[in-house]
Parts: sequence; C-alpha cells; structure tokens
Amino acid sequence: MATKTATKRKPAAAKRAAAKSTEATIKTKPEYDFETVKIEQRKDGITFVILNRPEKRNALSPQLHHDMDDALTYLATDPDTKVLILTGAGNAFSAGQDLKLYFRGLGNDPVARARASHASDSWRSHRLMNFPKPTIAMVNGFVFGGGLTPIVSCDVAIAANEATFGISEINWGHIPGGLVGWNVNQVMSARDAMWYSISGDTFNGKEAVAMKFVNFSVPRAKLKAEALKIAKKLMQKNPWAIQYTKEAIRSVRHMSMDQASDYLRCKSDALQRVDKEAGRQAGMKQFLDTKTFRPGLGTYDRKSG
Ligand code: COA
Repeated sequence: MATKTATKRKPAAAKRAAAKSTEATIKTKPEYDFETVKIEQRKDGITFVILNRPEKRNALSPQLHHDMDDALTYLATDPDTKVLILTGAGNAFSAGQDLKLYFRGLGNDPVARARASHASDSWRSHRLMNFPKPTIAMVNGFVFGGGLTPIVSCDVAIAANEATFGISEINWGHIPGGLVGWNVNQVMSARDAMWYSISGDTFNGKEAVAMKFVNFSVPRAKLKAEALKIAKKLMQKNPWAIQYTKEAIRSVRHMSMDQASDYLRCKSDALQRVDKEAGRQAGMKQFLDTKTFRPGLGTYDRKSG
C-alpha cells in the first residue's frame, strides 16, 4: 500500500516541480521597482503588471500614470515578456482617475497637470494599445470610469463574474472625459454606451460578456488560472504574426475599404521581412507538402520549421 502511494505520488510531484519552475518569477529587475505598479515576470514569458494601490482601489494617481508609462516602455522590448496580463491588487481592478490626487490635487498646477495628463493618455491609449505583444486585461473587481480604458486597450479581456463595472462619471456631475467616452464606444453598442454613461448603473462580469465589453468571465476563484490559459495559448503563435495581426485589426477599423486593402497588402509584405522563423513558408510546407498539420485546426509546428 505504502509503495503504491509512493509510486502514484511521484509523477504528481514532478509535475508540480515543473510547473513551479515555469511559474517562478525572474529576479526583479531594478527598472521595474515602481511605487504604484508591481511587475511579476514569470520564467515562461508571462508578465503580470499589477496596479498596486489596493488601499485606494488602484485609483489612477499621477504617480501611477508615470509608473505605467515607464513600465510599458521597458516591457515592450523586454525579451522576458512574451505576453502581458494587466490586473489590480486587492479587490479592485481600478477605481478610475484619482479624484483627490489627479483632479483636485492638480487643479492649480498646470505644469504637473499637463505632465500627468500626457502620461495618462500615453500609457493607456498608446503604449498599451500598441504594445507589440499580446495583452490581456484580467478584471478582478471594481472598475470605474478611467479604469475602463486600459481594458479597451488590451487585446483580450477576462473578468471575474463578480467584478463590478461602471461608467460612473455622471454620478459625480462629470462626463466620461479623458477618452473614456471614446474608448467605451469602441467596444460597446451605442445603446449600452449611452445607457451606462447617463444612468451610472453598474454591470457585472457576466453582463460585460453579454455586452461584448470583455471576452470571457469566470468565477473569481478561477480568474488567474483562466487568464494564464489564454496567455499560454497566445504564446504558441508566431510572435511576429501576432504583432502584425494586432496592429492590422486595430488600424483597419477606421479605414475605408480601399485604404484597408492597400494597408493590409503592405502589412502582409512587411511581415514576410520581419518574421525570423518564416512562419508562412513553414505553415504552407507542413500543410501542402508534408501534410503534417491543418491550418484550420491549430498552429503549425514552430520547432520543426
Ligand atoms: N479617487 C480617489 N480615491 C479613491 C477613489 C478614486 N477614484 N476610489 C477609491 N478611493 C479611495 C477612497 O477615498 C478611500 O480612501 P480613504 O481610505 O483614504 O478614505 C479608499 O480609496 C477606499 O475607498 P472606499 O470607497 O472606502 O472603498 P469601497 O470598497 O467601499 O468602495 C468603490 C470602492 C470603488 C466603489 C468606491 O471607492 C468608489 O466609488 N470610488 C470611486 C469610483 C469612481 O467613480 N471613479 C471614477 C473616476 S473617473
């Protein structure tokens, strides 16, 4: 009996050890030592970027905007980051702009206000939206107003069923400014964008999926595991193809058909030049010549080329 138990346990222990070694975080790099943002880099290439002011529900203070702007600048070219997962510490994703430090605190300081405003737009609408690797918003709890915009900027969003979303500006006599109004219109229906903006009503993770504001929702207890599954799936793809696909899908949205056709032809040619593993050729070879895979059903074998 004892021997049986021992032999049964061995593979499980080995499995756990292997999982631990890929989950282990890389030694924290000095450039990632931020006051309001925590960076956790796993050995498998998945990097968690954590909005880290849990006692203030991760409200977006000027410091947090500057920290995020720097963090995303470094991570964009960090070879140890292959997929980025953005989330919040504690029970909130983000309670939106910090009413005290951002709005009231900068009211009489136009220079600091301009700098914070620049960083605020820069990290959410440029650095995150144009991040060269896949990005996943993992919405763990409360998210209001300006906290919604990084979710829109991420490529994929997964929420806890229990998360609470709201375009709450109307509740304190404000409008969804700072690009919130524009951002929610990118992913919500016109009806939903208008209703939630003028009512200030909240919606949960399941409702966010039904509205297509996020892709998936799961019970909070499974949120991290499911986000990691998405990250691992995206890591299997050719990284140059995924970067060019992200850029193409976002860019063509506001183009005319003729502009899109021209842009996509150029983008497609450019991909052939930058793709260091020549994925298109490898994929065609494996489908047409060796007949070892079917493009409709999965990714080509990137190791054998
Ligand atoms: N700006 C500044 N401070 C904020 C904040 C924000 N957007 N959201 C939360 N905080 C602060 C609170 O002032 C409080 O600080 P204190 O401990 O010094 O008093 C702390 O975070 C905890 O907030 P509290 O309201 O006590 O937490 P809660 O868990 O009961 O409620 C929320 C959480 C998110 C529902 C609530 O804090 C809230 O409504 N925040 C504002 C959301 C909003 O409308 N944002 C839109 C901005 S564009």
